[in-house]
Amino acid sequence: MNRRSFLKRSIGSLLALIGIGGGTYYYARDIEPRMLQVQNVKIMDATIPASFNDFKVVQFSDTHIGFHYSIEQLQKLVNRINEINPDLIVFTGDLVDEPHLYTWNNDLINVLQSLEAPRGKFWIYGNHDHGGYGTEKVRDVMDASGFTLLQNEHSVIEQNNERIILSGIDDVMLGSPNLRQALENVNPDLFTLLLAHEPDFVDVAVDYSVNVQLSGHSHGGQVRLPFIGHLYTPKYAEKYVEGKYLLNDGNLQLFVNRGIGTTRLPYRFLCKPELHVYTLHKE
Ligand SMILES: [Fe+2]
Repeated sequence: MNRRSFLKRSIGSLLALIGIGGGTYYYARDIEPRMLQVQNVKIMDATIPASFNDFKVVQFSDTHIGFHYSIEQLQKLVNRINEINPDLIVFTGDLVDEPHLYTWNNDLINVLQSLEAPRGKFWIYGNHDHGGYGTEKVRDVMDASGFTLLQNEHSVIEQNNERIILSGIDDVMLGSPNLRQALENVNPDLFTLLLAHEPDFVDVAVDYSVNVQLSGHSHGGQVRLPFIGHLYTPKYAEKYVEGKYLLNDGNLQLFVNRGIGTTRLPYRFLCKPELHVYTLHKE
């Protein structure tokens, strides 16, 4: 039995064991994965410049297109994001599930291109982007879609002569993350956002001048049981699984997004797909 059918069987028997039958299975396979929870989060920090009050950042993550997630579904997500009128959009990795098996075409570019954010669209690599020889292909598609890659680098976002920093690292599992390089020549007093696909990387970020880390990768575990919580999360998403965490006496905030798609198993249970809308506020 391979890993996938083993997992399938284990989760199936677990669901049966706790007495949830066919209806729940149907819900976990066909209903919940198509839902969307929009999380509105206020980020307060003393280092946020006054002119960035109400600056809106939308984060989406882990679409895993091709594995029970279609371009049509992505188009609906894009429409939903555009309705929010974000200033900035960030994608935190894992665009398609298996780059070497995916039938690439311009539809994907057209949909991603239609995302609108006046202050830019940025992205970082996830493990599924580097995996399956996807490194160049995914980069080309994101490039053509108007997204700027942050691979151990940063971008200065400026308005009214005030600045914040948006930085990003390469994927932890299959890339070469280098936060020192990403923050080279950055004034440590400036409010700094970090995009890092794997949430557990925050234990490294805590030693740098990062105020907020945005991650994905965990999928929140995808299947969560009442009183038990998640059953499984991938490596580097074992410590920080979903939601908000405070580190370094509250000076570093971590937000873990549960992602949009699914991977390995096409189920979500008590773990809806998620979109984050962060609004910045000077504390
Ligand atoms: Fe991932």
